[in-house]
Amino acid sequence: MKPVSVIAIDGPAASGKSTLGADLARRLGYLYVDTGAMYRAATLAVLRRSIPVEDERAVTALVSEIEIDVRPPTKNDGRQNDILVDGVDVTWEIRSSAVDRNVSQVSKYSGVRDFLTRRQREIGMRGKVVMVGRDIGTVVLPDADLKIYLDASAETRARRRFLENEERGNTMGYEEILQAVERRDHIDTTRELAPLRIAEDAIVIDSTQLNITQVFDRVFTLVEDRG
Ligand code: CDP
Repeated sequence: MKPVSVIAIDGPAASGKSTLGADLARRLGYLYVDTGAMYRAATLAVLRRSIPVEDERAVTALVSEIEIDVRPPTKNDGRQNDILVDGVDVTWEIRSSAVDRNVSQVSKYSGVRDFLTRRQREIGMRGKVVMVGRDIGTVVLPDADLKIYLDASAETRARRRFLENEERGNTMGYEEILQAVERRDHIDTTRELAPLRIAEDAIVIDSTQLNITQVFDRVFTLVEDRG
């Protein structure tokens, strides 16, 4: 049987995709690529230049001018990738609440998606990769060897994000996070282009009642069975 080389993980906000993806890539010795971080990096660049996020043309023009890089981590500070914009490390800046609030708007634009999807495909086609996002199994890498759709209730996801933020010293309240998560889910699932949806051949895992290790073990077994 052909070994599982390209793994696509999709799912809604804070469903645990990045933790699963990074752990899986580490165990397999594959490259981990967080595509959400690319959309976040684009959004940060837009906000830093004070471009209104509603201005599709200006946002698209900026995104095509900047260089966004996702690389293996070079620092041991909890990061899973290094995220660079024009060579500058923005790994933690892209997790701000301002980026959280605006990223789904920027991600709706076709010019932005075309640009980032092309880069993601180039990386994915090289194989030995775990790519995480919203449209990886459906649009970016439809021929992936294994597709996982990771879900959990909105409340569970908001609670996890709350705890994650707390660890990083970010004091956003639970209710506010829950609202932001639900708002982002709504935009991501109802947008016209590459909406968040379950690929036909994806395996759905609901992690509401599962911890990180249980999710990991389930997916790792799938990788072994298929390979
Ligand atoms: O980590 P979290 O689940 O909060 O979100 P993320 O993966 O960092 O993605 C941030 C946002 O980028 C999402 O809410 C989507 O709007 C957008 N995104 C996308 O449109 N397509 C992707 N492949 C990945 C993210």
